[in-house]
Amino acid sequence: MDEISQRLHEVRKYEEISENRVADEERPAFHLSARTGWMNDPNGFSFYHGKYHMFYQYHPYDSHWGPMYWGHAVSEDLLHWEYLPAALAPDKPYDKDGCFSGSAIALADGCQLLMYTGVEKKEQEDGRIYEFQTQCLATGDGLDYKKYKDNPVIDEKDLPEGFSRHDFRDPKLWKKEDGTYACVIGNRSADGSGQILLFTSSDGFSWKYEKVLVENKNRYGKMWECPDFFFLDGQWVLITSPQDMLPSDFEYHNGNGTLCLIGDFDEEKNVFTEQKNQSIDYGIDFYAPQTILMPDGRRVMIGWMQNWDTCDFRAQHLTWFGQMTLPRELSIKNGRLYQTPIKELEKLRHSPVKYKDVFFSGDLCLEGINGRRADLELIIRPSEKGVCYRKFALRFAQNDEFWTSLSFHPGDSIIKIDRKFSGSRRAIIHQRRCLVNSEGGKLKLRIILDRFSAEIFVNDGEHVLTITLYTDQAAEGIRFFADGNVQMDVIKYGLA
Ligand code: FRU
Repeated sequence: MDEISQRLHEVRKYEEISENRVADEERPAFHLSARTGWMNDPNGFSFYHGKYHMFYQYHPYDSHWGPMYWGHAVSEDLLHWEYLPAALAPDKPYDKDGCFSGSAIALADGCQLLMYTGVEKKEQEDGRIYEFQTQCLATGDGLDYKKYKDNPVIDEKDLPEGFSRHDFRDPKLWKKEDGTYACVIGNRSADGSGQILLFTSSDGFSWKYEKVLVENKNRYGKMWECPDFFFLDGQWVLITSPQDMLPSDFEYHNGNGTLCLIGDFDEEKNVFTEQKNQSIDYGIDFYAPQTILMPDGRRVMIGWMQNWDTCDFRAQHLTWFGQMTLPRELSIKNGRLYQTPIKELEKLRHSPVKYKDVFFSGDLCLEGINGRRADLELIIRPSEKGVCYRKFALRFAQNDEFWTSLSFHPGDSIIKIDRKFSGSRRAIIHQRRCLVNSEGGKLKLRIILDRFSAEIFVNDGEHVLTITLYTDQAAEGIRFFADGNVQMDVIKYGLA
């Protein structure tokens, strides 16, 4: 393809050389991580020409955030990823300060269309420098992309009076049933509160502002980033990642969060009616998720497995930083969003170790139950009818010095994840608590470990807690603890 800019050419050369500095075992085995340097949000998650494409916010030259490129990888099962050359570089006047988050779809003519936010810093009359954010396009063949000649395609001229030109980002596109296109974009209203804007297009290139789809009204954080909007199990779901959250009960935590609004959408009138909202992940490291509709109809979500406020929690010797979560299949049951690991993960399972009806109290170590790449299924319940245990806990990534723990108190139905003893030397968040459903102390857990992370699916995905951890890989013990009498079934598989 013509028009590979000098900047893109250089970064492609750089990433090819520098990825060799990372040994395979220094990366997660089946989670996508930065090819080199820094990764944040998933972008352009799509199915195109028989493969899943994942682009990502990328600063290859350093393991910290910087001017944003789009990294690129493809996969056939969403678990084994192959890196492709970086797709976008900040090389045009309208995106010279970053190619921010966006999305991708296949066009009728066979091209792949990327829509992203171009960032340009400009000096204003008051002498101060402001960031302007606009929406831009690039088309390509799954490998090389050419920026559209009439970029930006949506800019301040398209916005109503009072809407922010500085916080206007992260377009998520989709093709409607009638063959036309729509996209949702994060923005702020005049009072600084987040809002999600809806735009439509007949061809994907010329865009029309429709309306404010949802207003935050300063309920959940301030700016709403990275929206996604889709139909699932008879309802419409709006996902967004608010900045600057205040906590509320056990549902929402301080800082950056992710939430979904579940409701109805009148497609004729473009009216969304919110019925319920909830957090998407109750752990520490989850942000900016994007979903895809798989060819077989499953709605699958991948998020950035990180928290903006804890980016100093890292392994100093690794030259990459930033991983994606597992792909998670979404469903709605009783008005609630459920997530389960993509079923293809089961193909990676090997060496099962099973225990049924283990009765114990105090400490317990089970032969063969260990590992840092593992799929662990647990069912716990009181061993005596009517006499509930007081606490159940397990420690993983454990050795004499370090561990991460998951504990459950049936008395208040609270699960706590705690990585305080995982080897961290930073004064940052290490614990999160989550209120779960448990009848008489019964709890079902599925825990997926992949070297630098743990994703915990409670009660078949009713709640999910995700954390990263950088404990030395030699710490691979798993131990159980009960205060009171517990009866437990365990199955552990190694994961390739
Ligand atoms: C979310 C985010 C997006 C933005 C990108 C920049 O994590 O702040 O809103 O497009 O990261 O890298």
